[in-house]
Amino acid sequence: MPSWDPDVYERYRTYRDRPALDLMVQIPPHDFNEIWDLGCGTGEHAALLSARHPGARVHGLDSSSDMLAAARRRAADVDWVLGGVEDWAPDRAPDLLFSNAALQWLPDHPTLFPRLAGGLASGGVFACQMPMAFETEHHRILRETAEEGPWASLTASARVIRPTPSLDDYYGWLAPMCGEIDLWTTTYLHALEGDDPVLEWMRGTGLRPYLDVLTDPALREAFLAAVRTGLAQAFPARDDGVTLFPFPRMFIVASRR
Ligand SMILES: C[S@@+](CC[C@H](N)C(=O)[O-])C[C@H]1O[C@@H](n2cnc3c(N)ncnc32)[C@H](O)[C@@H]1O
Repeated sequence: MPSWDPDVYERYRTYRDRPALDLMVQIPPHDFNEIWDLGCGTGEHAALLSARHPGARVHGLDSSSDMLAAARRRAADVDWVLGGVEDWAPDRAPDLLFSNAALQWLPDHPTLFPRLAGGLASGGVFACQMPMAFETEHHRILRETAEEGPWASLTASARVIRPTPSLDDYYGWLAPMCGEIDLWTTTYLHALEGDDPVLEWMRGTGLRPYLDVLTDPALREAFLAAVRTGLAQAFPARDDGVTLFPFPRMFIVASRR
């Protein structure tokens, strides 16, 4: 599990918020009592869920104490819980499970997704968004750079992003316990500004496992320089200085029978 830096993660907040909000508005109306945000990070969306559903008890679960420390600074009526989704066993059956950009870090989705959706109260909703990172050009560059240099033996353990299963796969895992299942993908075209914007974006998420294992400063800088070169070639800035950065994401909204 990579380390997380709330400040770096927050830098692209506007772009990272958009899919969470696109997911939230697709949650069907329901009288929610127990809401969990799994992998809540700095707590923005758990706080929003609390504001949207004032009668509900809202919990935000995250395995990073740094992210949760930032979440706890919010003035929000949310129960912040330090822990991993893999060990999570709520006292009461939730009727909304929300998870934005977190479950892709967990292995074994054929087991995990039925377990999460199967634990919902009857009529409850499972709403999840995951970046389809493995399939992107920037992750291909990161992987190939990591495999080729003097850092390769160290970064082997950092290649934790896996190929995204298909929409059909997720449908099949959820169909035994869910009635309505809505699955879709969206590719956002982010217009980024500044120097090396894709590298800076990746510092908040995809690069973290690699930077965690490259503790030697010189090796780390050499690796970053190689990634920077690859990304600059693949994502050149336009004449107006904007760098266009496509990012595909998968969405799931499923209702428990
Ligand atoms: C990309 S961030 C997303 C944070 C937040 N959901 C958002 O949209 O801003 C991923 C979050 O998932 C958390 N996370 C990763 N693996 C986890 C696990 N196994 N259990 C709980 N949280 C996890 C990380 O600590 C991090 O805060």
